[in-house]
Amino acid sequence: MPPRTAPGCFLTFEGIDGCGKTTQVDLFAEYLTRLRLPFLVTREPGGTELGERIRKVVLSGQSVGMDPRTELLLLFASRAQNVAQTIRPALARGRVVLCDRFTDASLAYQGYGRGLELDFIRRLHRIACQGLQPNLTLVIDIDPSTSVRRARRRNVDASQDEGRFERETRAFYERVRRGYRALARREPRRVKFIPGEDTPENIHQAVLEHARPLLAAPLRRRRR
Ligand code: TYD
Repeated sequence: MPPRTAPGCFLTFEGIDGCGKTTQVDLFAEYLTRLRLPFLVTREPGGTELGERIRKVVLSGQSVGMDPRTELLLLFASRAQNVAQTIRPALARGRVVLCDRFTDASLAYQGYGRGLELDFIRRLHRIACQGLQPNLTLVIDIDPSTSVRRARRRNVDASQDEGRFERETRAFYERVRRGYRALARREPRRVKFIPGEDTPENIHQAVLEHARPLLAAPLRRRRR
């Protein structure tokens, strides 16, 4: 069994739709560039060519009537490929890996949101990702009413068809948010909550406070 963690450093960004985590991934990537630390940015669903094809199927508004189990298995198919092809090799080379969503999204959305069994999802994680866990998970927390408003506006603006989740109700996002809270309570050292109704720069500073200690080792390696 490969180790749960590798020489690199694995950070994931989470939160309900429209929470601004993608902006935070970008700001963090700029920060790493300034530090001249080698890094890789990926996302889920997606992150590989195959995963991006799965993403289209999972998120398309045309995928009507998708069973929650089908959805979950597709998400883990994308994730298995991303872990094997992108994330593990990058960690093995000592890279900092930033991933826009990971297994916590499946626990929050498919588990708490859709009501699938958490144990089943955790078992799938062990199989698909061979237990790989992020060193740090940053949950950008916003109110579901902000989420629904931002996500709808974005989907109207965007040209791609990724609207299946964005049709969900506020009650769904309340459950997902409660899910992330429960995950943070279960693993308080790994999962950190950051208030997301603030300026991108303030949120970025809060992210850095949690992430800086983890970057000490990669920075030492870089100086060698
Ligand atoms: P994402 O691209 O992160 O969308 P956004 O930038 O709008 O937050 O994720 C797309 C959707 O996929 C989002 O609604 C959450 C959903 N999703 C799950 O339900 N489970 C998962 O495991 C993942 C990775 C995403």
